[in-house]
Amino acid sequence: MRAKDGLPGFSRRNARFLLKKQNTKTEPQKEIMPTLKRLDQLLSNCGYCSRNEAKKLIERGRITVNGAVIKDPSAKAEPAAVLFDDEPLDHPDGILVMLNKPAGYVCTHDSSEGARIYDLFPDLWLLRNPAVSGIGRLDKDTTGLILVTDYTHLIHDFTSPKHHVEKTYRVTVNKALQQDIVTLFNSGTLVLEDETDACLPAKLEILGEHTADLTLTEGRYHQVKRMFAAAGYEVMTLGRWRFGPYVLYDLKEGAWKDVPIIEP
Ligand code: URA
Repeated sequence: MRAKDGLPGFSRRNARFLLKKQNTKTEPQKEIMPTLKRLDQLLSNCGYCSRNEAKKLIERGRITVNGAVIKDPSAKAEPAAVLFDDEPLDHPDGILVMLNKPAGYVCTHDSSEGARIYDLFPDLWLLRNPAVSGIGRLDKDTTGLILVTDYTHLIHDFTSPKHHVEKTYRVTVNKALQQDIVTLFNSGTLVLEDETDACLPAKLEILGEHTADLTLTEGRYHQVKRMFAAAGYEVMTLGRWRFGPYVLYDLKEGAWKDVPIIEP
């Protein structure tokens, strides 16, 4: 892996290896079986309108299923087969995307804290029911990979402490990294300020004088910054490039793409 400051310059070859390694421990990707949904519910869950408005526009004949106009709001259909004004619905079965979060965006839904990652997506997504949410959070100044979804079970699957999902961060620090920090982070004895339980062993790979990759299997508040602070370093830049089976590759900052569901 090539050492580089800022966001990762990792190679696809290494990333594929990581993926393969992790996938040997996980279940194969699950097929999402299409479930039939009531048309009025489907339209409102996808954020187009309220349930009442959905009923009216269905009765007016604006919905077709497999080419046939359906005017009964309670009729059920496979979401992907539904057209609204002759257009397919936006993400009819649900959303799972990988975003390369730029610095300066918060992962909360509260807009009083500044620009939100949700402002980078179509407005419709926040009107969905359930609304889209980040799987875990990155700090405002942290860049990199965050998964965003409306499959609520995935939030639990990826963040539950029981699942120990691996996350890898590219870190740059304020002074030359010493080898002893690798042992310290891997020891399982590092206790963060104001905490009593030691951090789980974490893997640190030093890539350059000030640059390293840190892999965690837990997600405590500001964990990376606090681990380095406990060892006497200040984190200057922080970017996540891997989350479980997902790798950022060369997705541009601020860009997002649909990804398949791979259970951790
Ligand atoms: N650890 C941190 O300190 N910040 C993040 O954004 C993620 C992990």
